[in-house]
Amino acid sequence: MAIDVILGLQWGDEGKGKIVDYLAASYDMVARFQGGPNAGHTLKFDGKKFVLHTVPSGIFRPGLLNLIGNGVVIDPITLSAEIEELEKAGVDYKDRLLLAKKAHLILPTHRYLDAASESAKGKAKIGSTLKGIGPTYMDKTGRNGLRVGDISRNNFKERYQALKEKHLSLLEIYPPTSFALEEEEQKWMDSLELLRQLKQVDGEYYINHALRAGKRILAEGAQGSMLDIDFGTFPFVTSSNTITAGVCIGLGVSPDKIGEVIGISKAYCTRVGSGPFPTELENAVGERLRTEGGEFGATTGRPRRCGWLDLPQLKYTIMLNGVTQLAITKIDVLNAFEEIEVGTAYEIDGQTTQELPYDICDQPIQPVYKAHTGWQQSLEGITTFEELPQAARDYLLAMEKELGVPISMVSTGPERNKLIVKARRVVVE
Ligand code: GDP
Ligand code: IMO
Ligand code: MG
Repeated sequence: MAIDVILGLQWGDEGKGKIVDYLAASYDMVARFQGGPNAGHTLKFDGKKFVLHTVPSGIFRPGLLNLIGNGVVIDPITLSAEIEELEKAGVDYKDRLLLAKKAHLILPTHRYLDAASESAKGKAKIGSTLKGIGPTYMDKTGRNGLRVGDISRNNFKERYQALKEKHLSLLEIYPPTSFALEEEEQKWMDSLELLRQLKQVDGEYYINHALRAGKRILAEGAQGSMLDIDFGTFPFVTSSNTITAGVCIGLGVSPDKIGEVIGISKAYCTRVGSGPFPTELENAVGERLRTEGGEFGATTGRPRRCGWLDLPQLKYTIMLNGVTQLAITKIDVLNAFEEIEVGTAYEIDGQTTQELPYDICDQPIQPVYKAHTGWQQSLEGITTFEELPQAARDYLLAMEKELGVPISMVSTGPERNKLIVKARRVVVE
C-alpha cells in the first residue's frame, strides 16, 4: 500500500484538520510527520469543536490508529492538556495513540529560549508561536536533544539537567525575559508520567509493517509549504520540512511509498506572523475576509493577515510537493463578495514573472490581478459541485485550469459534513 499525504499549500491554517478528520474514515491510520504544538488543527462535528496541536486529526474516528511520528517535536505539557480534553469528551485513545520513540522532546527551557530569542529580534521577529519549536529542532540537528524513548532510560534525569544547564548558559546572551521556569518544570515532569503510559513504538518499523500488511495510511502535515525551512519565505518560516519530502524523513518511509498528495488551499490566502505575503490586503477588503472567515489563530488567537489567492505561490508549492489533487476550503467565506480577485503573476523591478524571487523578503512585489465575478449567495445545503452557483464553479474551474491539478474536494463550512466531493481520486466514503 502507499501512504497518502495531506498538507497545506499556503502559510498554514488551510483547514487541514477538517479535511483529515473527514477523510480519516477511509483510512486505518493517520500519522503526523512534522511540526509540534505550533500547529492548531480545528475539527467540528456533532455540534462540538476541538483544536488539536500534537494529536493527529484522526483521533475522533473510532478504531483508527494515530501515530505521532519521529519528525514531530512533542511538548509533554501540551500533549497532556490535549489528552485531558479527549478524556473529557469520552474518546477512547489509549491503544490508538502511538508515539514514535525517536520524536524529540520540547523542554521548558526550549520555550524560554524561543521567547528570549524572539524578543531580542525586536522588529525583525519571526512572529513565532513561542512553543519552543526552533530551539528544539536546533537541538535535534545540533545532536543534543532528548527523545521520547529516552524517558525510560536510567540516565534521563542527568541528561535533562545537562541540557537544561546548557540552555540556561545560552540564555545569558539574551536580555532578561520573564519565564516561570520552576513552575513550568514541575508541570513538565508531571506530564512525563502520562507520556510513559502512552504506547511508544519504533515508528519506522511500525509504519512499514502496517503498509506491508495493506493498511491505509494518511500522513497529516502541519503548517504550510510556504513555512518550510528550506523553501518557505526564509527566515520567516518554521523549523521543519513541511513539504511531501518531510513525510519520508518524519515517518521513516521511502519515497516510492508516497501515493496521493492532497494539497489544501483556502479559496483566498492568509498568513499569521511576520514575513512576505505578496497578495496581502491591508485594507477594508482584507478586514472583511478576516471577519467573514473568522481568521484568528487556532493556537495563539492572533488575527491572521488576509489577502487574495496567489497563483504563482500555489504553482510553486504544487511543484515542490508533487500535488496530485487539490482540496479548496472556505469557499463560503467569499459568498458575499461582489468581486473576487486572484493574483496571476508578479511584477518585480519592471519585469513580469511567474516565479518567486530568492530575495522575496526584500523585493517589492506587485501582483497582477484578474477579477472574477462573485456569486453573492449562500451555499447552504449544496452537496454537489454541479449545484454550486455558476460563478463559484467558474472560479474553481479557472483555478484548476491555471494550476493544472484536479480539484477533488471543496469545503463549504467548518463542519465535518460541509464538503463537496468533486472527484473521487481517493476513497472518500
Ligand atoms: P489547519 O491548521 O489547517 O487545520 O486550520 P485551522 O484549524 O487553523 O484554521 C482553519 C479554520 O477554518 C478553522 O476555524 C476551521 O474550523 C475553519 N474552516 C475549515 N474549513 C472551512 C470552510 O470550508 N469554511 C469555513 N467557513 N471555515 C472553515
Ligand atoms: P497549522 O498546522 C500558521 C508560523 C508562526 C510564525 C512562524 C514560525 O495550524 O497550519 P514557530 O512557532 O514554528 O516558530 O513559528 O510560523 N506558524 C504557523 N502559522 N499555522 C501554523 O500551523 C503555524 N505554525 C507556525 O505564526 O510566523
Ligand atoms: Mg492551524
